[in-house]
Amino acid sequence: MDISVIGLGKAGLPLAAIIADSGFNVTGIDLDSKKCELINSGENPIPEEPGLESLIKKYGGKSLRAFTDYCSASNCKAYIIIVPLFINEFREPDFRTLKGAVKSVGKMLKKGDLVVVETTVPPLTTEELVLRWLEEESGMHLGEFYLAHSPERIMSGNCISRLREFPKVIGGVDKKSGIVAFEMYRKFIPNLHLVSSARVAEFVKNIEGCYRDVNIALANELYKIAEELGIEFYESREHANHEYCHLLLPSTGVGGHCIPVYPWFLIKEMERKGKDEFADLLRKSREINDKMIEYWANKIVIACLKIDKPLNKITICIKGITYRKGVKELFHSRNMALAKLLADKGFRISIYDEMFTREEIEKLGLAWGDPDLADLTFDPFDLKIKLNAQKNV
Ligand SMILES: NC(=O)c1ccc[n+]([C@@H]2O[C@H](COP(=O)([O-])OP(=O)(O)OC[C@H]3O[C@@H](n4cnc5c(N)ncnc54)[C@H](O)[C@@H]3O)[C@@H](O)[C@H]2O)c1
Repeated sequence: MDISVIGLGKAGLPLAAIIADSGFNVTGIDLDSKKCELINSGENPIPEEPGLESLIKKYGGKSLRAFTDYCSASNCKAYIIIVPLFINEFREPDFRTLKGAVKSVGKMLKKGDLVVVETTVPPLTTEELVLRWLEEESGMHLGEFYLAHSPERIMSGNCISRLREFPKVIGGVDKKSGIVAFEMYRKFIPNLHLVSSARVAEFVKNIEGCYRDVNIALANELYKIAEELGIEFYESREHANHEYCHLLLPSTGVGGHCIPVYPWFLIKEMERKGKDEFADLLRKSREINDKMIEYWANKIVIACLKIDKPLNKITICIKGITYRKGVKELFHSRNMALAKLLADKGFRISIYDEMFTREEIEKLGLAWGDPDLADLTFDPFDLKIKLNAQKNV
């Protein structure tokens, strides 16, 4: 059976590679022609993903082939859709990319085909929107084809190992779809769990994202309180954490495509139902995490007062602009937002990031800087402010 993976990004390409490694022929579809060319010549377009390179080298252009044209996947029996779903300026889900991909799949759907949505979506999206789009485009009804949801639970930097080991859930929009999807997926996902419905599978991923956002907001709040009271936070956290207490780490906020986005799926859904108060904690956590850059900007400004220079002559090096350490991704990066906030306050901001070359940083319109030459360095990943005299503040 040939399988198609639609969207060969940070989540889709490792999945496609794992499927190829299990002996399937995989037809990847991606709008990015350069990415397709690289894959077909055995070159890995995501070099920072451990373990991916050898798989692309082995299967790229052979049993894993990438195309920009959906028609190339018309002979496949299963379609896995893993394109992004963003929120718009009003924090409403923007379904355009997903809808485009689903409708393109719908046009080539045949009797007995299986469609699995892996894109993280608000609950009920698969059984309501995706099903409707597929039926409209294919002229068929559920039962003639199968539809399921299986959220991608990988983390960039651990994709291959997560796909091989981490529990993955799958649920159908009807019972038969669940079984058909489960039977196919277990050929390449070893730790697979069939849940009762697509909506449960969707909610699993929503829960996970919300849990992390709320937990990090709590860590951020407790960190601020500890600082205010002169209490060593990290030591306290280490002793507080045990089987029933698992506090995550404080930070400059939460970035990337996933965690800052998923709580809004539920917040907005509750607003639509006139039940805003059901999502109060989710909303507040979003606010706490987004405001952490103001907290850190204030701390940095206070540290700058110790430097014997006018504030507008002080150079501050932000030692990391990605949203998470070790992941070359700037989407909703709070560290980038912090750099901008400080620049808006009139400081001279330079950037150093081990994931980017000097040229890449300058291409982003930012000033590259050697941390050792700045008056003050802020490392957003270990939350350390350092004066150039090497004095920790
Ligand atoms: N990256 C992660 O760590 C991660 C983890 C868990 C879940 N996810 C989920 O996976 C999904 C995809 O995220 P990602 O990180 O791979 O995104 P990405 O931006 O890295 O890649 C998306 C890919 O889809 C392609 N694409 C966009 N529109 C398309 C279309 N209409 N047809 C075909 N290809 C199209 C893009 O060219 C790109 O290569 C999202 O729902 C995300 O929430 C990602």
